[in-house]
Amino acid sequence: MSVDSYISDHQEKFLEGLFTFLRFPTISTSVSHQKDLIDCCEWLANHARSLSFEKVQVHQTKGHPILTGELRSPNPSAPTILVYGHYDVQPVDPLHLWRKDPFEPFLDGDRIIARGAADDKGQVWMHFCSIETYLAVYGSLPVNIKLLIEGEEEIGSVHLIPFIKEHKQELSGDVFVISDTGLFADELPTICDGLRGLVYFEVDLYGPNRDLHSGTYGGSIDNPAFELARLISRLKTDKGVITIPGFYDHVRGVPEDVKALWATLPFDEDKYCMELGVHSTSGESGFTTLERLWARPTLEVNGLLSGFVESGAKTVLPAKAHCKISCRLVPDQEPKDIERKFVRFVQELCPPGCRIEIKLHHGGKPVLVDRNNRFIQAGKRALRDAFQKEPVFVRAGGSIPIVAAFKDVLNLDSVLLGFSQPNENAHSPNEWLSLKHFIYGVRSLSRFWGEAAK
Ligand code: BES
Ligand code: MN
Ligand code: MN
Repeated sequence: MSVDSYISDHQEKFLEGLFTFLRFPTISTSVSHQKDLIDCCEWLANHARSLSFEKVQVHQTKGHPILTGELRSPNPSAPTILVYGHYDVQPVDPLHLWRKDPFEPFLDGDRIIARGAADDKGQVWMHFCSIETYLAVYGSLPVNIKLLIEGEEEIGSVHLIPFIKEHKQELSGDVFVISDTGLFADELPTICDGLRGLVYFEVDLYGPNRDLHSGTYGGSIDNPAFELARLISRLKTDKGVITIPGFYDHVRGVPEDVKALWATLPFDEDKYCMELGVHSTSGESGFTTLERLWARPTLEVNGLLSGFVESGAKTVLPAKAHCKISCRLVPDQEPKDIERKFVRFVQELCPPGCRIEIKLHHGGKPVLVDRNNRFIQAGKRALRDAFQKEPVFVRAGGSIPIVAAFKDVLNLDSVLLGFSQPNENAHSPNEWLSLKHFIYGVRSLSRFWGEAAK
C-alpha cells in the first residue's frame, strides 16, 4: 500500500484522534487548567506508546509537563530527528464570538474548528499521523525520532529552557523538525527560515493617590492616562521609526537575492487589506510589507487601560494608567539589550508629576536558519513531492522562543515545516485548520522521514 492511500483510508481515524486531542482545554496561562494540561500530556504519551515509542516520559516541571519519547530505526547509521511542538493553547476570550464551544471541535466543510486546531495541536498531530503511516506502510522508520512536546510555548517556554540544559544527552540528535508555522498561500508548500524574537513589557504610570474630580483638580496636576498616551506616542516617529536610542544597532539587512525572492511571492496588498478590513498597509517607510513583517523589528501596544471605561460619562482624573507593549526582534538583536534600552528610555520619558513602573515578561530571541542545511533540503524534496509544486522560502513575523535555545544549548538547527495559514485565526475566536492542508501535512511529513535518511 502507498503512503497516500494509507492516509486517505485512515482520514476519519486521524480526525477522530485529533478531535480527542483538541477537547483537552489546555490553556497554559490559566492556573485553573493545570490538570487539563497534565491529562492531555499523559493522553499524548499513551498515544506515543501505542505507536511503539520507547522511553516515553511525562516530565513534571514547576509549570506544565513536557513529553519525551524515542522511536528507533533498525538502521544503525540512521540520523536522529527531534520533533518539537506544543500542546498548550491560548485563552479563548472573547468566548461569545465563537460559533461553538472552543473545545468541542467540529468540521465545517474544509474547516476543523477548535482552539488549537492550527496552533499547534493540529500540526503536532500531523507528525503522529505521519509516523503511524510510515510504520504501517514500511514496517519501520529510516530515521530515529525523538519527541519533545511542551505545554508552555504560549507562555514563553520558561521551564523548557532549563529542561533542555539538563537533558542535553537525551536530546542529542541531528536536527529539529517543527510544524508550528504556516503555508504562504493556499496549497503552496512553504519552508520558514526565519522567526522574529520578542520582548514584552508592562508599563504602569501612577499619578495622584486616588481617582479625582476632573473639574476640581483638572489642570493642576498630570493626568496619567494622557501622559501615558503621550509617552507611547514618543516611542515612534510618524515615519514609523522606533525612537529608542540604539534600538536598530544590531539589525541585520536582508540580502538582495532574498529580497528579490520575496518580491516574487504571490502577495496581493489589496487582498491583504480587504481581508483585514483596513484601507491600506502602513509601517516603517522604505520597506515592503513583507520586509516589515519578516525582517524589521516592531513596537506594538498590546493593551491599554485607564480611567472610566464603562458606558456613559464620568468626569474623572484617573489615578493610574496601564499598558502592555511588546517588540518583535530580528537578527541580530538581543532581547536583553533591547530590554535595557527600552527601560532606560521609557523611564526618562516619565513626566515629573507621575511615577512609573516597568515589568518584564517572557521573551525570546530571533532565529535565522541556513537554507543549505541538508535536512532543509530534505524538507524541500518532501514538500515538492507531496504538493507537486516547488516550495517557497519565507520568514514568519511570529516567534517560537525555544528555537534559538535549540541552537544555543544543543547546537541543533530546526526545519520549520508548517501547514497553517495566517487567516486561520490562531489566538482568535473560531480558530480553524484546513482539512486539506492537514492531509498535505501528513503526506509531506510521511515523505520527510524518508528524505531525511538520504
Ligand atoms: N506558532 C506561533 C508562532 C508563529 C506565529 C509562527 C505565526 C509563525 C507564524 C506560536 O505558538 C506563538 O504564538 N508564539 C508566541 C510566542 C510568545 C507567546 C512568547 C508569539 O509569537 O506571540
Ligand atoms: Mn504555536
Ligand atoms: Mn501561538
